[in-house]
Amino acid sequence: MVSGLFVSFEGIDRAGKTTQAGLLADALGDLAVRVREPGGTPVGERIRALLKDPSTDLGDRAEALLFATARAEVVDRVIAPALADGRVVVCDRFLDSSLAYQGAGRGLGVEAVGAVGRFATAGLEPDLTFLLALPPNAAAGRSGVSDRFEDEGVALQRRVLEAYERLAAAEPARWRRVDAERTAEVVHAEVMSIVEEAIASASAKAPA
Ligand code: TYD
Repeated sequence: MVSGLFVSFEGIDRAGKTTQAGLLADALGDLAVRVREPGGTPVGERIRALLKDPSTDLGDRAEALLFATARAEVVDRVIAPALADGRVVVCDRFLDSSLAYQGAGRGLGVEAVGAVGRFATAGLEPDLTFLLALPPNAAAGRSGVSDRFEDEGVALQRRVLEAYERLAAAEPARWRRVDAERTAEVVHAEVMSIVEEAIASASAKAPA
């Protein structure tokens, strides 16, 4: 592969993104570069801690800009170089998270958050985005430590999921909707076959 492949995982909290990103990266071995958002760089990890801390008191626009700042760093320092190196970047959330959580969930507007987001990413988009689809009630029943977003309850998660469904429907070539109510192994098998197909078609298109 000459230009690499950029894969992202999206979904509401506890849909299983982190598990699936880990299983995919492990299966791909040295070909994969795994990134989490927010985070993935020294400054990004500090922004992540701030954003997830339930004691952080932050306005909605400032919150959106912090996510964008962390994203600009990880694009420039990790994702773009890895893609240039022909690697498969496996990203646990990307700009679609901001469109869904800040744009729709917080009500800032998908358009406005998208404009800031495109500046932050310099226009870089995933080649393939998995929507791990799980009803908010099922997610709430899964174990885990809750953060500032989950503390706000099921109404926010519902708005976020609806936004994801709209984004996926608007761009079917990039999105793959996967039923995340099944076991991690079954979801991984479906993800893996889609990624293998994408790698094969990217290699076929690359100049010899
Ligand atoms: P996440 O990494 O999914 O948390 P965890 O590791 O606990 O699964 O993301 C942290 C929270 O940040 C999550 O509730 C979603 C939220 N978020 C946004 O609101 N906007 C964004 O752009 C991103 C990347 C995450």
